[in-house]
Amino acid sequence: MAFMSFGLPSREDVVIHTERLLLRPLTFADVPLLFDAIDSSRQFLSRRLPWAESVRGHADLRVFVDKCQRRNGEGEAHRGIFEPDGRLAGHMSIEECVPARRSGELGYWIREDRAGKGYATEAARALLAWGFRQLELHRVTAYVDTDNPTSARVLEKCGFTREGVFRHRMQAGDDWRDQAVFGVLEGELKA
Ligand SMILES: CC(C)(COP(=O)(O)OP(=O)(O)OC[C@H]1O[C@@H](n2cnc3c(N)ncnc32)[C@H](O)[C@@H]1OP(=O)(O)O)[C@@H](O)C(=O)NCCC(=O)NCCS
Repeated sequence: MAFMSFGLPSREDVVIHTERLLLRPLTFADVPLLFDAIDSSRQFLSRRLPWAESVRGHADLRVFVDKCQRRNGEGEAHRGIFEPDGRLAGHMSIEECVPARRSGELGYWIREDRAGKGYATEAARALLAWGFRQLELHRVTAYVDTDNPTSARVLEKCGFTREGVFRHRMQAGDDWRDQAVFGVLEGELKA
């Protein structure tokens, strides 16, 4: 019920259409597609997103889908990124929402064989526009490994500003990663 304080009903069922993609809440029927996307991109994803290594079967993803559905009902935005033929290209979310600050955090991934097509940028522009409007966000933050120029470029294309670096913000195995913090305010989103 995080966003009840804004006087808005929850928006958990909203489907967002872009020029080439459809962003919709995941259902349990999507679990096999989700597993295939992660399993086939495991190394590609886990380099940046350590959780990808720990996804070992459908049961893990049923837990994930359940969590996304609950959080959608609490005013966050978790959406599968689908191509018109129904193939799952990735996932994107605005989470860690703090109603008192009208803020949230953007996270995303695209399966390896669909990367490099502009999908992350297209999906982020649409989800952010919806978040600023329907969730009444004022600021969205994103954290990116300092050696992940692809993700930084996605954010820059959407209008984010690089605001600084958090040292050792993420641990991956024995490795500590520095992460740059990016922020975009309402009105700054680049179409
Ligand atoms: C990061 C990720 C989501 C990007 O998805 P994508 O759909 O390929 O991104 P887009 O195609 O929208 O944009 C990528 C941009 O990065 C640029 N790019 C790619 N490699 C680059 C590099 N080594 N240096 C600089 N820019 C680079 C592309 O040219 C493109 O910019 P352009 O349109 O100006 O040419 C995807 O690579 C991914 O899921 N990676 C693994 C997980 C991850 O890093 N998630 C983000 C965590 S913060």
